[in-house]
Amino acid sequence: MEQEQETGANCQPSRSCADLISFLTQQISETSEQQITFAEFMGWALYQPQYGYYTKWQQKIGAKGDFFTSPHLAADFGELVAKQLAQMWQVLEKPTPFTLVEMGAGQGLLASDILHYLKHHDVECYDSLQYLIVEKAEAHIAEQRSRLQPWIRSGLSVEWCALDDIPPQSITGCFFSNELIDAFPVHLVTVQDQQLKEIFVTTETNRFVEVVADCSTPALIDYFDFVGVDVSRYPTGYRTEVNLAAIEWMQMVAARLKRGYVLTIDYGYPAERYYNAARPQGTLQCYYQHSYHSDPYVHIGEQDITAHVNFTALQLQGERSGLDTLGFTQQGLFLMALGLGDRLTELTQTETTSPQDLRERLSRRDALHQLISPMGLGGFGILIQGKNLSEHQKCLTGLSMML
Ligand SMILES: C[S@@+](CC[C@H](N)C(=O)[O-])C[C@H]1O[C@@H](n2cnc3c(N)ncnc32)[C@H](O)[C@@H]1O
Repeated sequence: MEQEQETGANCQPSRSCADLISFLTQQISETSEQQITFAEFMGWALYQPQYGYYTKWQQKIGAKGDFFTSPHLAADFGELVAKQLAQMWQVLEKPTPFTLVEMGAGQGLLASDILHYLKHHDVECYDSLQYLIVEKAEAHIAEQRSRLQPWIRSGLSVEWCALDDIPPQSITGCFFSNELIDAFPVHLVTVQDQQLKEIFVTTETNRFVEVVADCSTPALIDYFDFVGVDVSRYPTGYRTEVNLAAIEWMQMVAARLKRGYVLTIDYGYPAERYYNAARPQGTLQCYYQHSYHSDPYVHIGEQDITAHVNFTALQLQGERSGLDTLGFTQQGLFLMALGLGDRLTELTQTETTSPQDLRERLSRRDALHQLISPMGLGGFGILIQGKNLSEHQKCLTGLSMML
């Protein structure tokens, strides 16, 4: 242990928050160094099997939760993603099965919007579908099962599995996710006297506090070589995150794809923007009842903890693992290329029939604007990678308005 940095006050705990704090304290006390990595702390705060934020039965996404995601704003998001998936099926020459693997499906809204769109706009594609969901939290799996019952009852193949259980080179179709990678536990690192150090979590008089020590794994130092940024030249005190789980995930996904695409939607930046000296405190953010802050040691188990995604790492790891990078764009441009602008025009060009109709249109128009706003969801990154594709199969409408 080399240095201690005090954090803000820990939470006034609810019952399950208190149980999670006891669990974390126990974990720390069982280690020889009396400290755990921040990635371990975050992993348990979010996914501890009984008390973790994502594990518990509670509303997290939407008006009554802590944050919104695109599928919760309007069905248009899932419908336009579905349009892109249908084009992938077309250019792959209509394989059967065409397997969609949604990873981190939350409340199942995106799945439901995609299936609804395909069933009504491209029934041939719909009939070729096999839908797999890879979801870590049991509570979400139950919610997804219930939301997708109508499709399951109508005979569509919808299954839940772990990524590990998908055999290598077995999927012809598309692996996709919205706001999955930002929910992976990250390591916190800092620079001290031109050396990369790691931030660990320990306890001190009933509080969690941070301590700085040597990195728990050389993979953290290798990571910066890999993404081509030398953070050690940054001033002492610079801190940021490293998402080692993301590169492991990318490799696993690439290995399981036989032919097709990987579509990743999340907030983040390319490496040189992410690891910029002008961002000296990193991107770690916590969401609690629609407000955000940067203290992961309050509301433990009752708030989301996230970090932005380093898209360069996903791209490079994908290339290392046999994927071609087809393009990187922003959500706003992706959705506009797929027809969101036409939907906006249609909203204003048809006559309103009642005050209720007017209210609904205004609210939908507002949602569509939020989906493309460059300062909000529209500024999210969209990375599309592919495997075993001809040049023609690499040209996708969603990438036609790339920056
Ligand atoms: C921020 S939510 C996004 C949910 C949904 N995609 C949406 O857009 O509303 C993150 C989701 O990823 C799930 N998740 C986190 N880590 C995961 C992992 N390693 N494998 C599968 N699902 C994971 C969480 O349980 C949660 O359902």
